[in-house]
Amino acid sequence: MNKITKMPLMSPYPELGQGPIPVEPYLSKDYYDQEIEKIFKRDWLVVGREEEIAKPGDYKVKRLDFAHTSVILMRGKDGKIGAYHNVCRHRGNKVVTETGGEETFGNNKAAVVACRFHGWVYNAKGELVSVPGEEKFPESFCKEENGLVPMHVDTWAGFIFINLAKTPEKNLRDFLGGVIDHYGDYPFNEMTRVHTYYAHLKCNWKIGTDAFCEGYHVPTIHAGSFPGLSEYWQGDVAFFGDHRAIAIFTAGMNPPTPVGTAANNIFAASIGLGREAPHPLPKGINPTRSKSWGFEQTTTFPNFLIHVGEGLWFTHQFWPTGQDTCLWEGKYYSRAPKTNSEVWAERYAVLLQRNAWLEDTATMEDTHEALRSGAIKEIHFCDEEVMLMHQYRTITQRISQP
Ligand code: FES
Ligand SMILES: [Fe+2]
Repeated sequence: MNKITKMPLMSPYPELGQGPIPVEPYLSKDYYDQEIEKIFKRDWLVVGREEEIAKPGDYKVKRLDFAHTSVILMRGKDGKIGAYHNVCRHRGNKVVTETGGEETFGNNKAAVVACRFHGWVYNAKGELVSVPGEEKFPESFCKEENGLVPMHVDTWAGFIFINLAKTPEKNLRDFLGGVIDHYGDYPFNEMTRVHTYYAHLKCNWKIGTDAFCEGYHVPTIHAGSFPGLSEYWQGDVAFFGDHRAIAIFTAGMNPPTPVGTAANNIFAASIGLGREAPHPLPKGINPTRSKSWGFEQTTTFPNFLIHVGEGLWFTHQFWPTGQDTCLWEGKYYSRAPKTNSEVWAERYAVLLQRNAWLEDTATMEDTHEALRSGAIKEIHFCDEEVMLMHQYRTITQRISQP
C-alpha cells in the first residue's frame, strides 16, 4: 500500500471561511424560491443519458416539478435529441402521459408524439405536423407557429443536459469548465447497465446533497454495511467554479470479508477494494495513483453528483420539489455481467450499495424535521465537510446576485 498522506481539506481554501452557518437556507421559503429562480431555472441540469434514448423515435419524459413542467427528450430520425416542454399547444394537456412515475420511456418509429386529448402530433424537432380536423380552426391558425415550446439541450460524456433559461448565460461547455478535462475520457458509455432507486423525501434538497458530499459519516452511519472499514480519509479536493470534487481513500477492510473479496475479484463493482479496471483512470482522477483510492465524487452544480471508481460509477441527484421536500434518484452503473458468477458478484455489489444508500437517506428526514424545531439556529462543518461549505458559499453568492 502507498504511504498514507492526509492533507488538510478546508484550510487551503480560506476564501470559503469557517462555520458555523445558518440553518435558514434549509428551511426558508424565500431562500428556496430564489434558488429556483436564480439557479435551477438558469443552470444546465442533467435529465438523462444518451443511451436511454439510443434509437430514432425513442423518447423520455422527465418531471421537473420545481418548474411545474416536464421535459420530453426525443431522438429524431437524424439522430439529434430535441427537448421540449411536455405541454400541448392546443389546450395545454400533457402531450405524453407520465405513466412511468419519475421517468417515462417510449418509442415511436415515426419519431413523433401525439397528444391523447385531441390527437395533435409533434415530431422530434418539436414541429406540429398533424392537427385532426384542421379545417375546423380559423384561417388565422398557423401550424408552423404552434410547435412544442423548446428547452435548450446539449450533451457531455453521454449526459443529457437541459437549460430552462430563455438564453443561457453560458453554453454547456463553458458551464462545466474544468469538469470536462477532469474526467477526460472516463468510459461512462462502456458501463451503462443501471440500477435505479427513487425516494420522495420530506427534506430540503441540500440536506440530501450534503449527506453524499462528505465522508465524516462513514464510520458511524455505514457501520452496518462496512463494518470492517479499518480507516478512511478524503483528499484530492478540486474546485471548478461552482462545481467541486473530492476523493475517498480507504485502508481496506479489516478483516476483508471472503464473500466481498470474491465478488470484487469476479466483478470490479465494489467500492474501495482496489481492483484494477480495464481502463486507466483519467489523469485528473486519483492523480497520485494511490492504491488506497476508493472513488471520487464530483458535484456538477447544482444538484448532480457523479461518483466514479474503477469499473463502476454511480450518481445521486436531488430534485427540489418544495423547500421541505425533494426527490432523490440514485443510479448505479457498471458493465453487464457475462457469466453466472459475474451475475452473482454484481448482485452482491448492487445490494451492498443499496444498503449503504439506505443508511445515507435514512438520516435526511430526521435532520430536516429537527432543524424545523427551531431549537438550533446554526450548524457546524468540519474539515471533512469542505464540500458542504463550498456549496453553501456558492449558493449564497448566486442568490445574492440579481
Ligand atoms: S390538448 Fe392536446 S390535442 Fe387538445
Ligand atoms: Fe454515505
